[in-house]
Amino acid sequence: MAKPISLEKILFSQGFGTRRYCADLVYADLVKVNGVLADDPEERIATDGLMLNVEGKDWEYHEKAYIAFNKPPNYECSHKTTHHPSVYSLLPSPFVERGLQCVGRLDYDTTGLLLISDDGQFIHKMTTPKKNIGKVYRITTPDPITEKQMDHLIKGVVLDDDPKPCFATACEKLSENSLAMTIVEGRYHQVKRMMAAVGNHVEHLHRSQIGAYCMPADLAQGEWRWLYPNDLKQLSQSIQ
Ligand code: URA
Repeated sequence: MAKPISLEKILFSQGFGTRRYCADLVYADLVKVNGVLADDPEERIATDGLMLNVEGKDWEYHEKAYIAFNKPPNYECSHKTTHHPSVYSLLPSPFVERGLQCVGRLDYDTTGLLLISDDGQFIHKMTTPKKNIGKVYRITTPDPITEKQMDHLIKGVVLDDDPKPCFATACEKLSENSLAMTIVEGRYHQVKRMMAAVGNHVEHLHRSQIGAYCMPADLAQGEWRWLYPNDLKQLSQSIQ
């Protein structure tokens, strides 16, 4: 059982503003703790299973945030964007306030599963190739996908900025013009460059799975959800 913490500190840790602002939210009768209106920002609260309600919105307490997001096209995975709006603009503002970061970036035109967290160790674990965590991409191409191209992707292709080849750890043809490819690294535009290197092209790119965790079928584009210990276990499972 975690040690009880003052309500003001809890609200601050979740990204609801400065400690002073969080105390004022309580004084303004805008905070409920497990369904009961709070009146003392100094009150010590047990955080296990804690459900807050802030300004009329329910908020599950999470010491660290782990989020699955279904990225729509035409959003950039950056706080300071250049040409398109930021994925962070689609998330509740406490996430931005508490410093959540994308776990590896997707290109602005790529859709699908994006993890977002404020746990540095988790971000490192999910992005380092050493952990062998596969990321599955569904690729649509303008030209038919050949056996030769798939063979080449599995054997490894050399990209122009690094003599070390990069490999697909699995390739499954889904139709004449679509392919599911698994990679464990996350080099710059890696999938698009790998497809170009084997003589094809990416028309649309969608990330459908990380480790053994698949994009939930009921998570619509632009929506997010909390990840729980069982989801985190699936995320770190290696796949073929
Ligand atoms: N590879 C790419 O080329 N783009 C992405 O967004 C992700 C992987």
